[in-house]
Amino acid sequence: MDKIIVRGGSRLAGDVEVAGSKNAALPILFATLLTDERCVVRNIPDVADVRTTLRLLGDLGAEVEQDGADVAIRARELNSSEASYELVKTMRASFLVLGPLLARVGKARVSQPGGCAIGARPVNLHLHALEQMGAEVELVHGYAEARAGQLRGAHVQLDFPSVGATEHLMMVACLAEGDTEIENAAREPEIVDLAAALSSMGAEIEGAGEAVVRIRGASSLGGMDHRVLPDRIEAGTFLIGGAMTQGDVTVHGARADCLQAVIVKLREAGAEVEELDGAIRVSATRRLDGVDIKTLPYPGFPTDVQAQMMALATVSEGTSVVTETIFENRFMHAVEFMRLGADISLDGHNAVVRGVERLSGAEVMASDLRASVSLILAGLVADNETEILRVYHLDRGYQRIEEKLAKLGANIQRVKGAKG
Ligand code: UD1
Repeated sequence: MDKIIVRGGSRLAGDVEVAGSKNAALPILFATLLTDERCVVRNIPDVADVRTTLRLLGDLGAEVEQDGADVAIRARELNSSEASYELVKTMRASFLVLGPLLARVGKARVSQPGGCAIGARPVNLHLHALEQMGAEVELVHGYAEARAGQLRGAHVQLDFPSVGATEHLMMVACLAEGDTEIENAAREPEIVDLAAALSSMGAEIEGAGEAVVRIRGASSLGGMDHRVLPDRIEAGTFLIGGAMTQGDVTVHGARADCLQAVIVKLREAGAEVEELDGAIRVSATRRLDGVDIKTLPYPGFPTDVQAQMMALATVSEGTSVVTETIFENRFMHAVEFMRLGADISLDGHNAVVRGVERLSGAEVMASDLRASVSLILAGLVADNETEILRVYHLDRGYQRIEEKLAKLGANIQRVKGAKG
């Protein structure tokens, strides 16, 4: 297993380019199963979750040709309708394969995702909605086994604006008979990007990015040529890194309209943030102030940026209260920050962070994707060396982040095949 070693004290400065969004790319790649025509998806990030998805599409019988960040997929005929535990356990989003398989071949057998480090993360909303659309779903031996004849449109009221459930339903509804209405839909930019991809396949979708999404079903969809939107979470990570190292970083490809919640908090903390054409520039010339954040569904503060913002809070002036409302157990990074000398008290969904001048480098363990990157950020403001173990989590979602950070001036290296 690789580890990452960061020597703290450098200031991040310069230009960095964000990759395509992992969370937008994954559902769009699954959507290519909805047609037997050729689909081209551009600007996909080179990260482990995307590679896993392409492997799964290939296993199901799709022809997959990749050329750098562009991939052509043709699911002319599918020769399997199964996604194994082996695969789904490494990447929860692969559960999204169920709906497209069901719509296309009338059956699917997909492993239930199970728990992950940040909480139980059930798929009840996905399954309940698919049943409302006429699917029969049985949970047997850890698998969701689904069958359906012609799926039909339905009125679905989600209990919670789940990103995955909204995406799943949107995909299935495109090939259902009649209209589907999703109420309390997730409004994340990735939903809007998926809707754009589906629309280019000929789907009729209204309201993506709003709380009610309406989809008119069709008997078939055509191919697509779609460019995935830039990764707002990666962009937010670089902005926070620039601000907390009192640096000056321009993040190219970052879309300020998708990052308002983060930008507002960085400004409140005392950083300067400029929204440029096709880029965002962040700079700070002093130690930042503590700010309170509360994660919420979009357009609220993203849970995927909570760990990075907590890293910033550990070295800010004063106290910050971080409240996590999306996941039940997303504070494992806090315990690792404490090993680096952070002053944090945890109480259920709240973390009270009293900023210290400087962290002190140590060995720490990455527990999930965003926790890993937040530990790298913490290492940048710690004295001596911070060694981050289990960085395979990081590789699921960040494309060559150590190279990008090194170009910005970080003293960072990856050690291949380290123990831990
Ligand atoms: C997506 C993102 C993830 C992000 C999350 C919230 C992808 C690939 N992943 O995950 O990075 O952190 O949105 O912004 O896009 N829930 C249920 N039942 C369900 C579905 C969800 O109880 O059927 C709960 C989950 O356990 C969680 C909350 O709803 O507590 C949010 O989950 P959801 O919005 O579905 O997140 P994902 O789509 O899994």
